[in-house]
Amino acid sequence: MRAVLDPKDWAAFRALSHAALDDAIDYLEHVRERDAWEPMPGDVAAALAEPLPLEPTPLADVYRQFVSSIFPYNSGNIHPRFFGWVQGAGTPTGALADMLASTMNPNVGGRNHGAVFVERAVIGWFCELFRFPPDASGVLTVGTSAANLIAVLVARMKAMPNVRATGVTNEPRLIGYASSATHGCVRRAFEVAGLGSDSLRVLPTDSLHRIDPAIVARAIAEDRAAGYHPFMLVGNAGTVDVGAIDPLNDLAGVAARENLWYHVDGAFGATAVMSPSLAPKFAGLERADSIAFDFHKWIQVPYDAGCLIVRDCLLHRSAFASTPNYLTRMPRGVASAQPWFTDFTIDLSRGFRALKVWFTLKEHGSLAIGRAMEENCRQARLLADLVDADHNFELLSPVQLNIVCFRYRRAGMSESELDAFNDDLVIRLQESGEAVTSSTTIGGRRAIRVCIVNQRTTDDDIVQTLDALKRLATFA
Ligand SMILES: Cc1ncc(COP(=O)(O)O)c(C=O)c1O
Repeated sequence: MRAVLDPKDWAAFRALSHAALDDAIDYLEHVRERDAWEPMPGDVAAALAEPLPLEPTPLADVYRQFVSSIFPYNSGNIHPRFFGWVQGAGTPTGALADMLASTMNPNVGGRNHGAVFVERAVIGWFCELFRFPPDASGVLTVGTSAANLIAVLVARMKAMPNVRATGVTNEPRLIGYASSATHGCVRRAFEVAGLGSDSLRVLPTDSLHRIDPAIVARAIAEDRAAGYHPFMLVGNAGTVDVGAIDPLNDLAGVAARENLWYHVDGAFGATAVMSPSLAPKFAGLERADSIAFDFHKWIQVPYDAGCLIVRDCLLHRSAFASTPNYLTRMPRGVASAQPWFTDFTIDLSRGFRALKVWFTLKEHGSLAIGRAMEENCRQARLLADLVDADHNFELLSPVQLNIVCFRYRRAGMSESELDAFNDDLVIRLQESGEAVTSSTTIGGRRAIRVCIVNQRTTDDDIVQTLDALKRLATFA
């Protein structure tokens, strides 16, 4: 019998889909009424480890199982009091766009169809925002980890033009530079690129977690004297722990003088250029050779969607392009519309990520998204003021953007007891369902880390979160 996977009864499918859409909209409209995080019960998790379904299950039953066993146990980042890690909250429109993208289901590796032109348009908008030339290249990625890796591969290509044929010969050894506050994915990119993490000089930061350009210049000189080949400098536009912004303009000067590829990891921070009042903090970003950033963080596009833009389109392309026979490009027809996105990344098959970005930007405009970012920065300052004013807490780093790192303190506790207490406090807050923060280490001390990249957060949410921490700490 021929297996047709489309609905046999379109009317029934339509009815169920409409009900599911209503459930999804209710879910988002009433997100505030639920806990910020609800742990998944063991039996519910275990029940999902079913054997491979060989035979069909009615769609209504599958949907029922989703509603009871999966839907309630979300990671929490859509909730207004979720402040863990750096996780955007998304928007209902982004979810709608995702559904429409899957409906079209195009493969955006290349060829001539609407999705390709949407992705090009989105990349063009961000070249404009970052003041990159209009002929710069770009590609949407899973996230900034992938974008940083692609940047390292492009920089490697510039330093070793034959690397695609020869592999990494590392003679002389290529060396990159970044601060100790740099996200771990940059180090991993060096590992994956075959350069090795020893080839990334991890340089100290100042009291505000920023790299010192003079130290970078010194390290480069030492490496040259030792016979190495300095090739790449990575700046941060918003570090993951505290949101520090490296002196991007000075770093651009060092990179230009030393002929280094200048890459900026702007995962969440760089996108704050959407706010005219925050943009000046990122002066010098426009001088980068490449910028990695995410839509799924502060721009509130649903997961996953990151991006890399590269000033030198030809070099970017040369690092990845190849044309096996079955992918021959044609002057007309489906296989036209060069260049293809697969020429700028490691993927051939790619989904229509750009549609949810396009919808989000079109619906709200970059200025409104920038205003939401300004609000988050103001809320971070509000929280820092509340922490400062409360003798139970102490701030562990000044607020520079949208992140507050602090800890609970209690007289008589040793440093290691305070570390353990604060880690446990973060877990108990998560388990209470009132709010979610994450933890990190600042200056050797364990910190409660509140990262506000959430368009749903209100000032009351900030106050409530600190109150909950205080209550949980007091009754510990
Ligand atoms: C500064 C920075 N770089 C890179 C990343 C990794 O981004 P992604 O999770 O999109 O891969 C993050 C994630 O929080 C980050 O904050």
